[in-house]
Amino acid sequence: MNFRSDNEAPVNEHIMKALIEANQGFEESYGYDKYSVQFKAQCQDLFQCWVEALPLTTGTAANSIAMALSCPPYGAIYCHEGAHINADECGAPEMFTSGAKLIPIAGNHGKIDIDVLRAKLAGSGVHGEHEVMPAVISLTQCTEAGTVYTLEELNAFKALKEEFGLALHMDGARFANALVSLGCSAAEMTWQSGIDMLSFGATKNGAMMAESLLVFNPKYKSQILRHRKRSGHLISKMRYVSSQLCAYLTDDLWLQLANDANQQALFFYENCEGQIEFIHPVDANEVFCRLPVKKIVQLKQQGFEFHVWPGSNDIIRLVFSHATQPQAVQRLIQSINEI
Ligand SMILES: Cc1ncc(COP(=O)(O)O)c(C=O)c1O
Repeated sequence: MNFRSDNEAPVNEHIMKALIEANQGFEESYGYDKYSVQFKAQCQDLFQCWVEALPLTTGTAANSIAMALSCPPYGAIYCHEGAHINADECGAPEMFTSGAKLIPIAGNHGKIDIDVLRAKLAGSGVHGEHEVMPAVISLTQCTEAGTVYTLEELNAFKALKEEFGLALHMDGARFANALVSLGCSAAEMTWQSGIDMLSFGATKNGAMMAESLLVFNPKYKSQILRHRKRSGHLISKMRYVSSQLCAYLTDDLWLQLANDANQQALFFYENCEGQIEFIHPVDANEVFCRLPVKKIVQLKQQGFEFHVWPGSNDIIRLVFSHATQPQAVQRLIQSINEI
C-alpha cells in the first residue's frame, strides 16, 4: 500500500499502449517525428497561444533549461526555500545558468510570501554591480507542500514580475493536479497569469520518464533549441517521450488521472479531519499530517508505505496517485481512526 510517492506509481495503460504503438518501424529522429510535431500542436491547442514544446525526460532538466533560458550567469532566481530547484536538484539550475544565484524565500504552506519577495526586490540594486541582478521568479504548482496557488495569487506574482521586469517560471511537476484543483483553463493558470515558461510534468501522473518544457514567451524563440542541445537533452529517439505526452493529453486522460489522485486525497482528508492534525491545506494529491510516533510505527508494520518528513519524527507525507487503490485508502483511514 504505497503512499510514498507518485514517482513510484506504474505507467497508465493508455500511455503504455501508445508507447508500444509508437514502436513500429522507423521514425524521424531529434524531434522531427510525428509524435513530437503532434505534441506541440496539442499544446498550442490546449494553451491557446504560441508554444515551443521540448519533450524531456526529467523535471530537473526542464527546470534547469528554463533557468538557463531566462537568467544570465550574474542573475538571481527567486523561489520558495523548499522548492525542488533549491532543495532537490543538486545545483543543476546554478550549473545550467553558469552560476546564477538562487535566492530562497520563506512562506507558509510551500508558497512564496509575496511581501517578503517584494521587500527583497525593492532592496535589490543598492550594491550595484556587486550584487546579482534580479531575473526570474520560479513558482511551484502544486507546491512541495501539496498546496495550490490560486489565480489571484498567481496574478499578484504577475504584477510583481511586470513591476521589476522579471521572467516568471512555473515548476509544474504536478501541473495536472493543480489544474483540476483550481478548475480553470490551462491558459488561465499559465501565460494569462504571466507565466513565461512551464516545466510540464507527466511522469508523476501516469507517464514513464515524460516531462517537457513549454515556453510561452516568443522572446526566447531563437535560443530555446540550442539551450536544449547544449545541455545534452536533445533526445534522438524523441518519439518514445512524445508519444506518451500525446496520449497523456488525448481525451483529457491527464485530467482524469489527476482528478482520481486528488479525489482520493480529499476522501482521506474528509474522513480523518478532526481526528488528526493536517499540517498544510489539502488542495491536490499530497497530504502532510501529524501522527503519534507509535501509530507511525504501527502503520508501517501494517504494510503502509510513506515518508516521515525530514526534520520531524511525527509528520508524514502521503502521496495519492492515479494508481492508488480505493481499498488501500479505506484501510488507511480505518487504521488511523483507531488511534
Ligand atoms: C516539484 C518538483 N519539481 C520537479 C521534479 C522533477 O524531478 P526529476 O528531475 O526527478 O524528474 C519533482 C520530482 O519529484 C518535483 O516534485
